[in-house]
Amino acid sequence: MQADIITHSLELAAARAGDLTPLVYARLFAERPELAQSFGHNAKSVHGEMLARALETILDFIGDSAYAANLVAAESAAHATYDVPPETFVTFFRVIAETLRDVLGADWTAETDTAWRELVAAMSACAHQDEGALA
Ligand code: HEM
Repeated sequence: MQADIITHSLELAAARAGDLTPLVYARLFAERPELAQSFGHNAKSVHGEMLARALETILDFIGDSAYAANLVAAESAAHATYDVPPETFVTFFRVIAETLRDVLGADWTAETDTAWRELVAAMSACAHQDEGALA
């Protein structure tokens, strides 16, 4: 996983598109319309907050990973209690990557694609780590 590539792609997307919140959720709900219901009454504020937390988690994960691996495991387990299974929890990170790909266009290179795929796979492994214990 290439931390500099991930950071660069996030900075470039923020410079071009500003707040990514509407883009990420439009993509998420286009793929999984039923999830629009699952955010509850405070949907709009929960949207921004959850994306902010996901981005912070990504930055920690690619940095010193002081807390990200544990946070992904714990939030994945917490989300299962909101009827959001680990696969769906991880979908959010993939959708962030696909949103960046759309915003970056030609600047989304093969290296960028590989770095994000590896990141999402590593986060997916953390998100699924408690499943054995729950089974
Ligand atoms: C598609 C994937 C996801 C769905 C459908 C989802 C859904 C939800 C729902 C329904 C809640 C409860 C809101 C309430 O209090 O009424 C919640 C809370 C929360 N979500 Fe997500 N979530 C997803 C992914 C993520 C990701 C990737 C992160 C960040 C790592 C995250 C971070 C949080 C946080 C910090 C809360 C506050 C409560 C808690 O700590 O559990 N969510 N989410």
